[in-house]
Amino acid sequence: MEDKMTSYDHIKGTTAVYGLIGDPVEHTLSPLIHNTLAGLTGQDLVYVPWRVRSEDVGDCIRGAYALNVQGLNVTVPHKIGVMEHLTSVDEKAAAIGAVNTLVRTEGGYVGYNTDHMGLKRALEADGIMLTGRDVVILGAGGAARAAAFLCAFEQAGSVYIMNRSTDKARSLCEDVNEYIKRQGTSVDVELCKPLALDAFDELPAGDVIAIQATSVGLYPHVDEAVITDDPFYTRISYGYDMVYKPAKTRFMKLVTEHGGRASCGLKMLMYQGVAAYELWRGIDVSDNVTDRLYPKLSGAAGIREDQA
Ligand code: ATR
Repeated sequence: MEDKMTSYDHIKGTTAVYGLIGDPVEHTLSPLIHNTLAGLTGQDLVYVPWRVRSEDVGDCIRGAYALNVQGLNVTVPHKIGVMEHLTSVDEKAAAIGAVNTLVRTEGGYVGYNTDHMGLKRALEADGIMLTGRDVVILGAGGAARAAAFLCAFEQAGSVYIMNRSTDKARSLCEDVNEYIKRQGTSVDVELCKPLALDAFDELPAGDVIAIQATSVGLYPHVDEAVITDDPFYTRISYGYDMVYKPAKTRFMKLVTEHGGRASCGLKMLMYQGVAAYELWRGIDVSDNVTDRLYPKLSGAAGIREDQA
């Protein structure tokens, strides 16, 4: 008991308070990310989880502001609903239509989306840049949406969205293509194309980047993958699975068995947190810090380091 009490000694009258709102929040790794970052970067802050019901989100934001809460992360199911309670929303987050990070400013919170930033940094850690590349995204839900818009921001060469429900794939493609049209850049206004899950013969041959953005293959359903057909995987040179438990998903195994490289979603989780922390604290988190954070995060996620 005494040990536990001494570990909170660093909380003082000056300590800045941050937190996560969502429902549920019991299994979140975000407190570990941010409290570890605070220790590693020597910042005077604490980060706590708050379970908030959807009908209470407005009160929660006003209350957090009144309590001088310096920043919030937002998770399922509030990433869209919270937006009406903010003073403004960053342009990329507005394009995606969801926020996961709130930064306190004079007069209210500003919303950002660090999911796309986390994915970008996780891919870059593997030497993968999306610019000009052929990309296939599996899924058309919230996670796939961040990935598809990242492809637009990074000016990918072509993007195929494969989803069980082709209506959802079509609608996501329309949203991204419409965004590109509004931006008026040189990117192909038909960047995203919807495909059914069995239409892999329409993908370019070889050297395609695949981003697995469904929950299929998540523990305990470790033997499942959205697509298991060889002709799909022979086209893939790199696969990123947003699932991180298990650390080697069936999708990742299929990519590597066909000669590609693959990574799990834990770095995306870490870097979306790092990006939020950087926005809040106005600092750059160094590789030296993330190199120390990552093993701690894999341990907490129940991933052995040699698998991560
Ligand atoms: P998230 O916010 O994590 O993306 P979501 O919005 O519920 O979660 O989206 C889940 C995605 O996983 C969807 O693309 C879903 O496909 P449908 O749009 O057809 O529902 C996909 N998904 C979930 N279970 C699946 C399964 N058993 N087979 C294929 N796709 C599945």
